[in-house]
Amino acid sequence: MKATALRRLWPALVLMVPTLGMAADPPPIQLPAPQHRGGMPLMEALSARHSSREFAPRPLPRRVLSDLLWTAFGINRPDSGGRTAPSAHNWQEITVYLAMAEGLYRYDARNNRLVPVLGRDIRALTGTQDFVATAPLDLIYVADLNAMKGAGEQDRLLYSAADTGFIAQNVYLYCASAGLNVVVRGSIDRSALAKAMGLGRGQRVVLSQTVGYPKR
Ligand SMILES: Cc1cc2nc3c(=O)[nH]c(=O)nc-3n(C[C@H](O)[C@H](O)[C@H](O)COP(=O)(O)O)c2cc1C
Repeated sequence: MKATALRRLWPALVLMVPTLGMAADPPPIQLPAPQHRGGMPLMEALSARHSSREFAPRPLPRRVLSDLLWTAFGINRPDSGGRTAPSAHNWQEITVYLAMAEGLYRYDARNNRLVPVLGRDIRALTGTQDFVATAPLDLIYVADLNAMKGAGEQDRLLYSAADTGFIAQNVYLYCASAGLNVVVRGSIDRSALAKAMGLGRGQRVVLSQTVGYPKR
């Protein structure tokens, strides 16, 4: 293309660039405000808590996602940024990812929104069991080991696993209360999943957890 033709096209190209960017980068999904009241009494939720491995494919509504994620690792003390689950040294090193049919998202607790990470369905890579590919939601707990300042290698692994356990139990109790099926899972090809998610050095997949409505 001649330089003069390019100069004529330039204003149109400049206008197109942001549009192209938007197509590749969908905006975050704003979740409705989570409900901090109601649900099953704690002792009843503990009585009902159990693992299930059968899920209807029906997607979870956004209000359910919002309550589920807030219960998992949401902010319950806005002044200090404290979370619904404890973490060693308050490192808050666990990020909750959501693998759904429409793509991979990251839970942004402070803004109560889902930040798009990948525009493709990677549910099948979140575990070695068949149901993970068709259940509506596979949560993936990823530890940022670099955020655990001052800890040795062994403590980083120990504490990030323990911190994930608290989050996963919160999810179990929410699911018991909301009539959802759930199972936490460690049987994962972690390197294949980390590669698909584009994780960096120091980011480690700890566990995954599948959530969905019971099969009728
Ligand atoms: C760290 C951890 C890893 C687990 N990994 C798997 C898994 O990969 N696949 C699975 O189906 N269940 C997995 N489970 C669920 C257990 O099998 C289940 O909790 C156990 O059988 C007790 O059943 P309950 O949760 O109904 O009490 C895991 C549980 C934990 C705590």
